[in-house]
Amino acid sequence: MSEPTMENTEPQEGLEVLRPHKFDGIQEFDNPMPNWWLAILGTSIAFALGYWAVMHAYGPGIEPGKRLTEEMALAAQEAAKRSGLLTDPLLWKMSQDQAVVNNGRAIYAVSCAPCHLPDLAGAIGPNLKDNLWVHGGNPMAILGIITEGVAAKGMPTWGPMLGRQKIAEVTAFILSYHKEGEPVLPAQPQAQAR
Ligand code: HEC
Repeated sequence: MSEPTMENTEPQEGLEVLRPHKFDGIQEFDNPMPNWWLAILGTSIAFALGYWAVMHAYGPGIEPGKRLTEEMALAAQEAAKRSGLLTDPLLWKMSQDQAVVNNGRAIYAVSCAPCHLPDLAGAIGPNLKDNLWVHGGNPMAILGIITEGVAAKGMPTWGPMLGRQKIAEVTAFILSYHKEGEPVLPAQPQAQAR
């Protein structure tokens, strides 16, 4: 390696300027970066700042990782719905889905309101909006009793009449009057006139 030299370093009109060092016989010009290169650099920095602000920090953009997680959860929900594999959490979720609840409300008005009353307050069948349950108040218990009915007490067996999808929807409609985690209190089976 040779010492940096100072030869040829004075800027001269019309001549390329050389940097004041030389390594292994190699010297560098002291030219500015070309404008097209600087433009790309500047644009990249501006884009990165904008992207960070919109997607990660302040903006409405959803960062791809988060969106993937959300889409996977949705897909799992859809798959569970299609496979008919209903669970308590899924039914609670459905009870917050306005479209599902509206379907359930329509089914309820036709098939259930005559006995449970349009406001769910209960008449021939028990109140469905309080915390007292004869057959258990968790979502799958409600879905089960609607599906199987209680022949001896006059609650019809809706399974064959409505099918899984509609029973899930009407269950979601009933759950929309309730909150996840609320107390579920046992009611006396005889106490039908509530
Ligand atoms: C012909 C009257 C009648 C109709 C129509 C009817 N039910 Fe019932 N339902 C009853 C009776 C009576 C009971 C009480 C059963 C018992 O005490 O064991 C009951 C019980 C229930 C229960 C259990 C309540 C509890 O406290 O555990 C649910 C949930 C329910 N019905 C939902 C429905 C839904 C949803 C529909 C419409 C798809 C419907 N019922 C239609 C009469 C009816």
